[in-house]
Amino acid sequence: MIVVRTVADLRTALRESRAGRIGFVATMGALHEGHASLLRAARADSDTVVMSIFVNPTQFDEQADLAAYPRTEEADLALAAAEGVDVVFAPSAGEMYPAGFATTVSVTGPVAETLEGAQRGRAHFDGVATVVTKLLLAVLPDAAYFGAKDAQQVGVLRRLVADLNIPVQLVVCPTSRDDDGLARSSRNARLGADERARALAIPRALQEVADASASGIRDPEVLRGRALDVLAEALIELEYIAIVDPVSFEPVAAVDGQALVAIAARVGRTRLIDNTLLTPG
Ligand code: PAJ
Repeated sequence: MIVVRTVADLRTALRESRAGRIGFVATMGALHEGHASLLRAARADSDTVVMSIFVNPTQFDEQADLAAYPRTEEADLALAAAEGVDVVFAPSAGEMYPAGFATTVSVTGPVAETLEGAQRGRAHFDGVATVVTKLLLAVLPDAAYFGAKDAQQVGVLRRLVADLNIPVQLVVCPTSRDDDGLARSSRNARLGADERARALAIPRALQEVADASASGIRDPEVLRGRALDVLAEALIELEYIAIVDPVSFEPVAAVDGQALVAIAARVGRTRLIDNTLLTPG
């Protein structure tokens, strides 16, 4: 495994790999089993696996969150090597955003402006879209692997890749969960034991909605009510619970095709998101 820190070195490192299939996993480091599941999917499909580690400052809406974001490069490189990554791209902020940088890639419409886009502000998905465009153009992979855990990020990136004709296949990998059901996240490390127990209301609420939907309930307000009952008991600060079309992120009037339930909540100082797809019974 080699580690490169500039786009020029990355291009040199990949020159000979272009004849085969290149798979790419973008990360902000602090790697856990969720990231490892993406790396395994990429490894299974690719001749060369590239992973990036870059804590992208432009997608953070809170400076405190950026400052507190865990940075664990040594452990991340060990995990990447164990999962068979060939090339790690770990640029500095100056390499990605040199003096004079003045371009923003901005996806518009409900997919980027509702839910996470509304709570975190426009800059969040602008930051994600801009950095992922730069990373895809630097790596030029055949396929890029993203987690369903960040469902709206996937929606934004699907729009981006289609609209800009970026020649890459997006592969969406299922949300990886701990045994207790909590979706794995680098932010979970900040939860105290009591907070973690309360956070479990999030996957429980999603399961409640999925069960109710499978039993034939189609009214999104009734389904939301079921989730709110579960969340109310847990003393967590709900930001939103929404039932939306999984592609456009527009609210659905009735759950009669595929729909996505998405939750964002704060447990203590930690903001958590999770979601599940509904397939009505
Ligand atoms: P990060 O939060 O590090 O996540 C990197 C990738 O891992 C994303 O595609 C994310 O959806 C996926 N992932 C995280 N937790 C997961 C889980 N429990 N199960 C499955 N996949 C999971 O998402 C980002 O970084 C950034 O926004 C990035 C795309 C790198 C752009 O800066």
